[in-house]
Amino acid sequence: MEMAEEVVVLVIGAEPAGLVTAACLARRHVPYVMVERESCSASLWRHRTYDRLKLHLAKEFCELPHMAYPMGTPTYVPRKRFVEYLDGYIDRFRIRPRYRTVVESAVYDDGRSRWVVSARDMAIDVEVKFVARFLVIATGENSKANIPLVPGLPGFVGEAILSSVYKSGKCYTRKNILVVGAGNSGMEVAYDLATHGANTSIVVRRPLNGNLNAANVIFGDMSKHGIVRPKMGPLLLKSQTGRSAIIDVGTAKLIRGGFIKVFTGISTINANSVVFHGGKEVPFDAILFATGYKSTNGESMFKDGFPKKGFPNHWKGEDGLYCVGFARRGLTGIAMDAKNVIEVLLK
Ligand SMILES: Cc1cc2nc3c(=O)[nH]c(=O)nc-3n(C[C@H](O)[C@H](O)[C@H](O)COP(=O)(O)OP(=O)(O)OC[C@H]3O[C@@H](n4cnc5c(N)ncnc54)[C@H](O)[C@@H]3O)c2cc1C
Ligand SMILES: *[C@@H]1O[C@H](CO)[C@@H](O)[C@H](O)[C@H]1NC(C)=O
Repeated sequence: MEMAEEVVVLVIGAEPAGLVTAACLARRHVPYVMVERESCSASLWRHRTYDRLKLHLAKEFCELPHMAYPMGTPTYVPRKRFVEYLDGYIDRFRIRPRYRTVVESAVYDDGRSRWVVSARDMAIDVEVKFVARFLVIATGENSKANIPLVPGLPGFVGEAILSSVYKSGKCYTRKNILVVGAGNSGMEVAYDLATHGANTSIVVRRPLNGNLNAANVIFGDMSKHGIVRPKMGPLLLKSQTGRSAIIDVGTAKLIRGGFIKVFTGISTINANSVVFHGGKEVPFDAILFATGYKSTNGESMFKDGFPKKGFPNHWKGEDGLYCVGFARRGLTGIAMDAKNVIEVLLK
């Protein structure tokens, strides 16, 4: 049985926004877990900036809360010094990110008042689950906030669409579309695409559970379509793993009829195609991500990668969901967001 790890706060991202959040939490003795997609902290600053780069604002505007720059730091902090400062910050506040762990989706479970977060440990390619009271998204303004970065996605030349902006399958007739994320919204979108004549495929990362007790009768044996029903029934599944039963009858019929193809996991994305686990390569025109952070009302806090609420209320979502570092105000904005989040969290 898949076990979920219970945490008070889950912080996503180990760059300045996540690190500041972690430091503020640690100072107030709030337990948290931090996950980071890359294999090190501050990967942007360590690996994706050029050597001669300096912070473009004077250091007094680029100091993280609760730790000053060492004596003798130049007014415009060079990249290397900034990385050293961040490393010092991580030591000082004993931040221990879980690296190579990418969050794929988070859904609020109203019954338990908890966020159920699916992530993937990329080192061993295993799905990990967290159940969190609070969720802090510190994934950076440039990360689109809720598109999980699958290896190779930046080089994909087709369309990459988020389910939150998906309207209808009308313009996808006869196109090859891949839906990533087989929760309720993924199933709905796949159904809509297929009924509009799109050549639809869906990526399923784990066994899917039918919605009805009579599921076997209605769906029949779907294992040959890549869908293995979990051994637990839907109610037990929900109470033990926090995962809702999904798959509606319409989608299941289309899968059985071969109108929607099922794949079990993405290995990598090429310019025009996707390679699945097992090595099969399939061309696609568009990839649709039915992932993201969904509150009780099913809505995402983000639109096009930024919070829907404008400054100064951008950082506060519903149900204990917060974001840090999305105010387009650099490191100063990050510090403000983190302090706001901690104040509300402690209430
Ligand atoms: C070249 C450059 C110069 C800048 N100079 C300044 C300056 O002088 N002063 C200033 O105030 N600001 C500056 N900024 C702006 C800002 O302060 C930085 O971009 C800062 O790094 C933002 O930090 P962040 O933590 O919000 O986001 P990011 O640095 O983007 O970090 C987000 C982290 O989240 C991780 N992540 C994303 N998605 C997931 C997921 N699904 N699961 C797990 N982990 C995930 C990423 O791997 C990444 O490590 C600059 C930015 C750039 C690019
Ligand atoms: C439809 O998609 C499948 C993969 O899911 C692919 O093998 C097949 O070639 C596609 N059909 C057309 C007509 O492109």
